[in-house]
Amino acid sequence: MTRRKPTRRRRLRNAAVITGAVGALVAVNGPVVGAAAADAYTSYQRDQAGYKAEHGHWDTVELPEEYRAHAIHAALLHNGKVLLVAGSGNDAQDFEAGTFRTILYDPATEESTEIPTPADLFCGGHAYLPDGNLLIAGGTRKYEVLAGEVTRSAGVLTVKNESRVSGINLPEGTEFTRDGKTYRTTEDVSVPPAHDMSGVMWMAGQQDVWIEAEEEGDGYDVTGSEQFQLAGLDAEQARNLYGQADSITRDKQDYGGLDASYEFDVASERYVRTDPLTMSRWYPTLIGLAGGKVLAVSGLDQHGKIIQGDNEVFDPATSSWTASPELQRYFPTYPSLFRLADGNRLFYSGSNSGYGSDVEGRQPGVWDLTDNTWTDVDGLADPEFNETSTSFLLAPAQDQKVAIVGGGAVGDSEDSTARFDVVDLTAASPRYEMLADYPSPARYLSAVTLPDDTTLLSGGSVGYRGNHQSDLHLTNSFDPETGALTEMAPNEVGRNYHSTALLLPDGRVLTMGSDPLYSDADDTVPGKFETRIELYSPPYLYAGDRPAVTGAPAEVTRGTTFPVSTAGAAVAEARLMRPSAVTHQTDTEQRSIALDVTAGAEPGSYDLGLDAAEGLTPSGWYMLVVLDADGVPSPARWVHVA
Ligand code: CU
Repeated sequence: MTRRKPTRRRRLRNAAVITGAVGALVAVNGPVVGAAAADAYTSYQRDQAGYKAEHGHWDTVELPEEYRAHAIHAALLHNGKVLLVAGSGNDAQDFEAGTFRTILYDPATEESTEIPTPADLFCGGHAYLPDGNLLIAGGTRKYEVLAGEVTRSAGVLTVKNESRVSGINLPEGTEFTRDGKTYRTTEDVSVPPAHDMSGVMWMAGQQDVWIEAEEEGDGYDVTGSEQFQLAGLDAEQARNLYGQADSITRDKQDYGGLDASYEFDVASERYVRTDPLTMSRWYPTLIGLAGGKVLAVSGLDQHGKIIQGDNEVFDPATSSWTASPELQRYFPTYPSLFRLADGNRLFYSGSNSGYGSDVEGRQPGVWDLTDNTWTDVDGLADPEFNETSTSFLLAPAQDQKVAIVGGGAVGDSEDSTARFDVVDLTAASPRYEMLADYPSPARYLSAVTLPDDTTLLSGGSVGYRGNHQSDLHLTNSFDPETGALTEMAPNEVGRNYHSTALLLPDGRVLTMGSDPLYSDADDTVPGKFETRIELYSPPYLYAGDRPAVTGAPAEVTRGTTFPVSTAGAAVAEARLMRPSAVTHQTDTEQRSIALDVTAGAEPGSYDLGLDAAEGLTPSGWYMLVVLDADGVPSPARWVHVA
């Protein structure tokens, strides 16, 4: 494919220039007596009622030390608590020790609970089931080993079994030889017997296993397709059972995926095991389908190789996963997918995080699941800067518009973009159109949609994982109606890789996590995982009295109207906000659905109409919010959509 250079707009700047620009901004806003004085001035200014009413306010929260886990995954449960999943938390020592963590944080009471975590769910995927339990699948089987630390040649060996009679189990430590050199398997493996391909030919049974050279140093590398013998077999046995590998090297070894699959049961606040994934996945995306099923795509397999388009579906009725060869499609890891209102199509915005070819699977488009067909969506600016970009469904979801903001080149490139493009997926031939740029090039932006239809964009960094201290202390409110960005109170805490953000039932925004590689401007001192929480109170929380929902059905049905009673100002608008389940700037859940509002007979009573489309409002729990004529939202009330 041809790759466009980002010449359409000049938005690529480097970190040094941006740092300079932010510095200059502080200087004109405050007396030029030094950075400390300028900071004190702005901090004082930001505490004033007038400033908060216009720009909102950030508060920093430190949990007690025993609850400071790495907030790599965050999900708002329908009991109002935030599930914060770290697993091993990108900490190799915790991984080796088998220390896997989950914290349940209640933002209303600020109380936390440690939840026993049965597997390393670090960098799995998640999606809500119709009953509100969170399905979490995939995770970490092994940590990466950087090239400089790989001492023995190693890689994937495909063990082949030509026997038509019996499979074979090979224990960890099984020796294979090639060219007089010995390699050992690092795990147990069972290889099935050959199988008959519909009477035409027999296919050898095969299974991949990781092998490692018995000695360190040069001389054990193997490249190109080579055959390995299983030690100790006679000639006839060796014809039936052998290995093949094409890359046994001392190259960097990527993280390996896990086939773990659990439901987080909200009622008991415990993990409940389901049947495992059919494939191990690290960095998969999970997304809900019709009938409460869940699709899992992409990820690195157990050996760290990117999965070549093998996708699978979870059925909550049987609590099990089934391979879906009819939905074969390759994506880079953690692709941003959005379920469209017709229910049968998914939009891939182009955003992703982690791994994948820099050319394959990067094309945004609409994926029709009824026949596995694909329609490109063109027009995206800076299409080679989609890694670590952020995508979100504009509010209300009925508009079927998706925005993509920021992003960087594949790998640890310093280059990032300020691109802010939007696509209208209701158009006959949807195409990305450009909006005004974000105020800075940015990776890892958080995007949280509020009940007033604005989306709060905050944090992120200019460089890869905040390199050169390029964290952005910058928050903007995006208005989907005008396309305008308004600068809000800046976030105090930097948020780059492995950061999360979500809307709380009370209307605040919670931000957590951040995993910088370094902690100094020269990128020499190792970084530290950010455990401070920061909470943003939007201007509507300083607008005086809020409306309130005083009565609503516990369960509502699509395509019907339901009564609510309210207190306070007259209700002008109502929304159902689906709670976020977010990791790596990927959130297939967050969406805001507009309800039709009709005044009832009694003062404060209204009838709210919910659209019939299942793809628009998938079954599950939602935050019901009513808004007054000034756009001030009520606190949310939980409602189940059947
Ligand atoms: Cu990660």
